Amino acid sequence: MTTERKDEPLSDYYSGKRILITAGPTVEPIDDVRFISNHSSGKMGYALAKIAADFGAAVTLVSGPVHLPPPNDITLINVQTAQEMYQASTNVFPQTDIAIMTAAVADFTPAVKTNGKIKKENTGDEMLIRLIKTKDILAELSKQKNENQIVVGFALESENEIENGIKKLHSKKCDMIVVNSATQPDSGFGGEKNTITIITEKGISRTFPPMLKSACAVEILKMITEL
Ligand code: CTP
Repeated sequence: MTTERKDEPLSDYYSGKRILITAGPTVEPIDDVRFISNHSSGKMGYALAKIAADFGAAVTLVSGPVHLPPPNDITLINVQTAQEMYQASTNVFPQTDIAIMTAAVADFTPAVKTNGKIKKENTGDEMLIRLIKTKDILAELSKQKNENQIVVGFALESENEIENGIKKLHSKKCDMIVVNSATQPDSGFGGEKNTITIITEKGISRTFPPMLKSACAVEILKMITEL
């Protein structure tokens, strides 16, 4: 790793580049004590933030709640909800060269947040929570991007990984997508490793063996330099 981080072409490319990274889960409140979220640990996004900063990039990390120490020498913006992540990301994006969206953004949020704590005696034996779709941050940034900006998405898939990843790359109109499996060992949420396939908008595809998330981060940053 140490030698890779001293890789001069990567330092040359990333030195002074402004990079926006989203990471972790979002948390969508039902009431003051309950929420909807997911198992994202934030490890992939934090690894990317650390290594991009090591290569000399000016990194802004927009992070949902995680249990990780923030990397040194980055700007950290803590958020809770998908709406807050959307707001922070769209604010930063105009001053960004490269956006990498690793966050597991909740796709749905409760239509109404109840103040206080919902009491069982008021709900009966069944309780329905109406959910509404959150805004797609990756799709929105891809829509806003100018010809000098690069937008990279992630695709977490539980079946037909590559096919679904390519669909996401095209539907969200990003420049590159990193596909990882939600079900394979050494992949997805929580662990130290990930198993990724990187696919570019130009149709280049590279599959890697299971690797530490820090090593995946290096490969992702290398591939971006080839876009
Ligand atoms: N994403 C986003 N905003 C959302 C949902 C997803 O920016 N509201 C981004 C993620 O950060 C990731 C990519 O979109 O870079 C794909 O996320 P993923 O969870 O794999 O897919 P979804 O778009 O949520 O679709 P589905 O859950 O149906 O697979």
